[in-house]
Amino acid sequence: MTVKILSITLLLLSVCFLTFYLSDTRVRGPGSNRPCCVGVDKDNRTAEVVGETYREQAARGHCVKAIIFNTKKGPLCADPKAQWVKDLTAKMRKV
Ligand SMILES: *[C@@H]1O[C@H](CO)[C@@H](O)[C@H](O)[C@H]1NC(C)=O
Repeated sequence: MTVKILSITLLLLSVCFLTFYLSDTRVRGPGSNRPCCVGVDKDNRTAEVVGETYREQAARGHCVKAIIFNTKKGPLCADPKAQWVKDLTAKMRKV
């Protein structure tokens, strides 16, 4: 009897562990593997921004909420609360 209860407990534990493991893998799986902003720039970088589109990133895991602009050097993570960012996005198109 005790052995039976023990095996059921073990079974439930492994199911829990497996569920956790699988959902954890899905979070890090393909698609969400894209690099994300882990910090934002608060300085006015208006002069460096190129193009007329920007992207918006939601906070998720170690990623922070950010506006992503393009610059000649690559993507720029900007603070959505900064005034220069608000000024720029008002003139640009979200993609
Ligand atoms: C940021 O800099 C641009 C020019 O580089 C300027 O036109 C703009 O007014 C500045 N914005 C703020 C909020 O300082």
